[in-house]
Amino acid sequence: MIDTSVEYAQQLDSRDPLAALRDRFAIPRPRQSDELTYLVGHSLGLQPKAARDLVIEELDKWADLGVAGHFRTDRPWAPYHESIAEPMAKLVGALPREIVAMNGLTVNLHLLMASFYRPTAERHEILIEDHAFPSDHYVAESQLRLHGYDPGKALITVAPRPGTDNLDREDILETIAARGERLALVLLPGIQYYTGQVLPMAEIVAAGHRVGANVGLDLAHAAGNIEMSLHDWGPDFAAWCTYKYLNSGPGSTAIAYVHERHLSNPDIPRLEGWWGHDKASRFDMDNRFVDPNTAEAWQMSNSAILSTAPVIASLGEFERAGGMGPLRAKAERIGTYLDSMLDELVGDRVERITPGSPAERGSQVSLRMRGGIDGQSVFDQLLAADIQCDWRFPDVIRVAPTSLYNTFSDVHRFTTLLSSILS
Ligand SMILES: Cc1ncc(COP(=O)(O)O)c(C=O)c1O
Repeated sequence: MIDTSVEYAQQLDSRDPLAALRDRFAIPRPRQSDELTYLVGHSLGLQPKAARDLVIEELDKWADLGVAGHFRTDRPWAPYHESIAEPMAKLVGALPREIVAMNGLTVNLHLLMASFYRPTAERHEILIEDHAFPSDHYVAESQLRLHGYDPGKALITVAPRPGTDNLDREDILETIAARGERLALVLLPGIQYYTGQVLPMAEIVAAGHRVGANVGLDLAHAAGNIEMSLHDWGPDFAAWCTYKYLNSGPGSTAIAYVHERHLSNPDIPRLEGWWGHDKASRFDMDNRFVDPNTAEAWQMSNSAILSTAPVIASLGEFERAGGMGPLRAKAERIGTYLDSMLDELVGDRVERITPGSPAERGSQVSLRMRGGIDGQSVFDQLLAADIQCDWRFPDVIRVAPTSLYNTFSDVHRFTTLLSSILS
């Protein structure tokens, strides 16, 4: 039986080796009470205080230097994005040259599909999950239409079995095997956004490659949340945003990943722009594209500096934490505490649809109210008490105690309030 006292939660906080990091983030101001509990890192991560300094630094540089900010200064704009590749690669188990910071997530999915969705009459199907995030659904459907195929026939989906919430590993792998040579692309998330389920990425990549399909991963909910070995798993491409667990601000610069085996390959077509041209000769302006032999070949435009600066600030906080290992260790401790508190305080009035095993979940836990309880009203009452979580139609409240800034006391406050709302 768990000790449900606030003192016990505080004791757990006092033993948390990452506790000091919380002060490095701006915690939103409470509206109704003394303290706001922020459990929405899966949606918009909190602002690292260092982000403000870095953005101001760029505004000052612009004011002070004008165009000279591109080259003749500290942290110049021309190579600005380059400092992201190495720390970002560490977080996801990639090589720095496989990573480039650019655009938004959905844009990157389309650009990468220009290279890795190359349908033919015989092989043109795309596999996604039935409850894919709307953008992934629209990306796949619009790519099919762009190439002249009917999504009604060529979009293949895999769904949880009736009466269940999570995708069954066997079902995913068997669907891939069954589509066989008709399958051109598997496009799946690392973590399912609604349930928080971690998908078996390595096995999905291997299964896709076995039938000759390319495999792309949407890592919006996985990057900065769970440990990955992207390079070893070998997806052809991946993309993720930086505003969720990567705490880089609304609409911040996203990431594209291309596996090393596809770099410098003249047989892979690409949509190109001048910023993808190798930097040594970019300004020769001779209109002959020179491949930089990195994922930067996919970068079309010069970097959006003001929305890239926070990414650099946030990656600094991940470095300070010691990388994904210590962050995952805390996530497991805080997740176990959350589970125990829910078991003790709300019991079967709430169903956890996120898988229980640490290998199949990240920081997010999705909760469904049972027995005719109106989930939307529960959510509204939590919000009115300054507990920020989110409501996803039709019936799920999502919470994500994230390791960089959440505390055991946050989880205590959430679970005790939920219990009193439900009683
Ligand atoms: C899984 C997933 N894919 C794609 C997107 C779309 O991201 P963006 O609007 O940055 O393109 C989101 C946004 O939350 C998401 O959660």
